[in-house]
Amino acid sequence: MNDVVRYEVSDGGFAIVTVDRPRALNALNQDVLAGLDVAFARARDEGRLGVVLTGAGPKAFVAGADIAAMKDLDSDSAEAFALAGQQVLGRIADYPGVVIAAVGGFALGGGMELAMACDLIIAASNARFGQPEVNLGVIPGFGGTQRLVRLVGLQRARELVFSGRMVKAQEALTLGIALEVVEEGQAVARATAMLELIASKGPVAVKLGKRAVNAHLDGTLETGLALEAALFGQCFMSEDQTEGMTAFLEKRSADFKGR
Ligand code: CAA
Repeated sequence: MNDVVRYEVSDGGFAIVTVDRPRALNALNQDVLAGLDVAFARARDEGRLGVVLTGAGPKAFVAGADIAAMKDLDSDSAEAFALAGQQVLGRIADYPGVVIAAVGGFALGGGMELAMACDLIIAASNARFGQPEVNLGVIPGFGGTQRLVRLVGLQRARELVFSGRMVKAQEALTLGIALEVVEEGQAVARATAMLELIASKGPVAVKLGKRAVNAHLDGTLETGLALEAALFGQCFMSEDQTEGMTAFLEKRSADFKGR
C-alpha cells in the first residue's frame, strides 16, 4: 500500500493488513492513516469478506497516534487530526465484511481505538490495552471515548480513560475488550481461522448481520430494531437464504454463493 502499511492475501482469500512501522511501535501518523485507508478500499474493491488487521514486530499492534507528529499541533489542527483519524477508523468499522484485529503487544491510545474499530479483537497473551492519553495531557481522539463505553460499559470506561491504566490480555478478556486470548505469535493465525469459519456461512447474511449489530451504535433501540427487521427482510431477497433454508430441510450442507 505504502512504506508503512502492507497488504497481503491469505490462502483463504482474506486480506491481511499490517501496520509496518515497528521502530516507532507502529504509531499512527498521516502515512499510516493514508495507507490503512488505501488498504481497506482495496480489500473492499476486491470483494474480500474478511480482513485481519495487525501490527509488525514483536512489541506492538499500534502504540498510539504519533506523539512526535502531534506535539506542536494547535487546537484547530488537533481537532482536524482527530476528525481525520475518526474518519479512517469509521471506514474500517463500516467495512462491508468482517474485520478482526490481531493484537500482539501494545494497543494503546489510537492503537486501542483502531482495534476497537474492528469487529472482533483476538489478543495474544502479551497484548496490553490502554487509553493512556491522560499521561500526555490529552484525551482519546480517534473514537476511544465512544467505542470503549460500548465495549466495557460506562464505569469501567471512565476508570480507564481517567487513569490511563494498562490492561493485560487476561483482564481484556474478562472486560470484553478481547474476544479470545491466544499464545504469543498466534493472533493472526487464530483470526484467519475464525474468518474461515465465518466465510463458510451465508456471506450476504454475515454482512447484513454486521450492519444490523452496528446499528445499535447509531441510535435508539427502536431505530435499531426497525433496521434489523428491514435487513432481515433483505436476506430473503438473496439466493443464500433460499439455499440455506432448503439445505437445512434437505439435511445437507448449504452451498452458498454469496448472492
Ligand atoms: N508515538 C510516537 N512514537 C512512539 C509512540 C507513539 N505513540 N510510542 C512509541 N514510540 C516510539 C518511542 O518514541 C521510541 O522511539 P525511539 O526509539 O526513536 O526513541 C520507540 O517507539 C520505542 O518505544 P520505547 O522506547 O518507549 O519502548 P518501551 O518498550 O520502553 O515502551 C511503551 C513502550 C510503553 C508503549 C511506550 O513507548 C509508550 O508509552 N508509548 C506511548 C503510548 C501512548 O501514550 N499512546 C497514546 C498516544 S496519544 C493518542 O493515541 C491520542 C489519540 O487517541 C488520537
